[in-house]
This record gives sequence, structure tokens and C-alpha cells, in this order.
Amino acid sequence: MKAPETISISGLSKSFNNSHYVLENINLSIQRGEFFILLGPSGCGKSTLLSMIAGFIEKTSGDLLVDQEEVKKPGRNRGVVFQQADAALFPWLTVKENVEFGLKMKKTPKDNRNKISTYFIELVGLKGHENKFPRELSGGMKQRVQLARVLANDPDILLMDEPFGALDAMTRRTMQTELVRIWKETNKTVIFVTHDIQEALLLGQRIGVMSVGPSSKIDHIYDIPLAFPRSFTDKEFNRYYQNIQAHFD
Ligand SMILES: Nc1ncnc2c1ncn2[C@@H]1O[C@H](COP(=O)(O)OP(=O)(O)OP(=O)(O)O)[C@@H](O)[C@H]1O
Ligand SMILES: [Mg+2]
Repeated sequence: MKAPETISISGLSKSFNNSHYVLENINLSIQRGEFFILLGPSGCGKSTLLSMIAGFIEKTSGDLLVDQEEVKKPGRNRGVVFQQADAALFPWLTVKENVEFGLKMKKTPKDNRNKISTYFIELVGLKGHENKFPRELSGGMKQRVQLARVLANDPDILLMDEPFGALDAMTRRTMQTELVRIWKETNKTVIFVTHDIQEALLLGQRIGVMSVGPSSKIDHIYDIPLAFPRSFTDKEFNRYYQNIQAHFD
């Protein structure tokens, strides 16, 4: 049986100024539980597309459905992880308070809040850092707090916009491995934006390659049936790498 579709996009276009389209005629369908990558060069409209799915910005035309409902505004079924953790975390709240923020808004009782934050703080590897403030954390740790906070809200869909872009190469590798583990443990649907082919291949079950803007669209979708955890020294991995690289040459 085919897995149910959670995101369904057809003929979706976006123009900010009526003179040209940033995105034109995007067609995309994403299954529940899928790890999908949006890959494309800087300025092609990846963040714009993700923000439309998140409900932060309005489409110009076309259809954009999440769980069969037209997206009109942000919703609890979608959680967003941004590139810059600094802009997303509250500096005056501790790690634990940041993670519990959405739960508090939802009026989740304190005992429950405590249970949930403890679980996700441990899941992202921040046990022992609960009472620190964001300024006392490294970039990678702040990104983990952001991830724990989004997961604590329990959205079905994680929308991640180059979340590891600002991290050093070693921390990025660790975070990539952790994200695959967390995705497997939580069965979330993930849409992950990157311009890094290697990152796309380490994480994605399918990779949608976007064309250069203006009027960007999804040029081609690659199926990546390689098992996790993946290794970039693998022969098959490199074959996919060359194929996708050729898109941008
Ligand atoms: N609010 C806005 N008003 C006007 N133009 C915008 C706005 N947001 C984005 N754009 C334009 O839309 C295009 C796509 O931008 P977007 O940020 O989606 O690209 P991107 O693929 O995420 O790039 P990057 O990899 O650099 O983050 C760019 O030409 C940008 O200038
Ligand atoms: Mg962007």
C-alpha cells in the first residue's frame, strides 16, 4: 500500500513584485514519514518555498495542501528549524525553558512539560546542559536546542532551512548523523533545504533539484535508495554525487 501523502503541491508560483516569478509551476508530492531534500543554488527560492509550506508567506497562484488542507497560515502540524539558532532562541530563557516554550503556550501541565523536555533534551544529546543560557552554548549546541524545541511541540512535519549551514564541518557531520537517528526514532516527515550535495546525499530519501532562478522549478527528483547510515566514501554514493553535480555544471 502506498503511504499517505502529506504535502501536495501543484502549479505553485510565487512573485514578490508582479514583474517576475521567483518560483514558477512547482509540482511536488511528499509522503508521510519521508525525508525529502530541496537542493539548489543560492537565490533559487528554496527558503521561499519552505516558508510557503510553513505558512509564513503567501503563494501567488497554484495549490499547496498539507494534509488535504489549503495552507493559509502556520500550524502546529509544521515545525520550522532555521539556519541561525541565535535568531530563533530566546536569550533570556535557559535550555529547558526554551524547549518548553511552545508547551507552556499550549498550557501543557508542568509535570508533563518536564517529562517532554527531559526526553527531547536527552534525545538531542544535551543532558546536563538544561540550566544553561544560549550565550553559554556553542553553535552546534544551540542548533540542538532549536531542534529539541521543535520536536517537543510534536509537529508531524519538520521544515529545516539549512539548519547546519553555520556549523563547522565536524559538528555538521555529527548533527547530520543525529538527525537521521532522530528521524528514524520519531517517524516525522522532514523537508530539508540545502545547497550542499554531500549533505543532501547523506540525509535524503529523495532529492529535488531546483533550477537557477528566476522562475525556478524542481528540475528533477532523484530517488536515493541507499541504506542509512550513509558514507561519502561509498561507491554508489559517489555515483549519485557525480550525477547530481552534473546538473549544476
Ligand atoms: N520578501 C522578499 N521580497 C522580495 N524578494 C524576495 C523576498 N524573499 C526572497 N526574495 C527573492 O526571492 C529569490 C529567492 O530567495 P530565497 O531566499 O528563497 O532563495 P534561497 O534559495 O533560499 O537562497 P539561499 O541559498 O541563499 O538561502 C531571491 O531572488 C530573493 O531576492
Ligand atoms: Mg535560503
